[in-house]
Amino acid sequence: MKRISLIVVLSGLLLFAGKSFGFLARKVVKTTSNETVYVPSGDKAAAKYPEGEKIFKEKCVACHQLTGMGVPGAFPPLKGSDFLKQAAKKRIIEQVLNGSNEGLTVNGTKYSIPMPPQVDNYKDAVNVVNYILNAWGNDYGMVTLDEAKTVKIVR
Ligand code: HEC
Repeated sequence: MKRISLIVVLSGLLLFAGKSFGFLARKVVKTTSNETVYVPSGDKAAAKYPEGEKIFKEKCVACHQLTGMGVPGAFPPLKGSDFLKQAAKKRIIEQVLNGSNEGLTVNGTKYSIPMPPQVDNYKDAVNVVNYILNAWGNDYGMVTLDEAKTVKIVR
């Protein structure tokens, strides 16, 4: 009996906490038509680069995961990646247009599985790269279409 009431109280508390702190997980954006739109928290990149977010969710999540954390030992993280932060922007654009089989080191861990090419045009490359440069708290700048066009698409 005691245990049951404890469970009831605990779930009540959890429900209450969920309701009260739910706002922390959301960011409210007022649109011009005055509707309220919710954007997942911490993802200002999704609001700024919606096309990029869409491409990421279609093409990159399988390996780099929705959290941008990747899969340890197999697929490197994009969130907080020192490689993404330090590499030349052109190198990152190449990564999504042409893939890479060089192997690379991210935050001290070496990744050697090849990454296949992901997008086939400069516009998509710019959108998705700008998204990952700024998602999950990354603050790694941005790339331009002109910069992307300096990359030769190899097929
Ligand atoms: C099939 C799995 C797979 C998919 C899909 C994939 N990647 Fe990768 N990615 C990898 C692997 C493996 C590496 C590391 C090895 C390498 O590049 O040589 C990597 C490395 C990277 C790197 C550089 C390392 C780092 O973590 O900073 C970036 C940036 C990157 N990927 C972005 C993307 C983007 C953006 C997409 C979608 C458009 C994408 N990847 C889709 C597997 C994948």
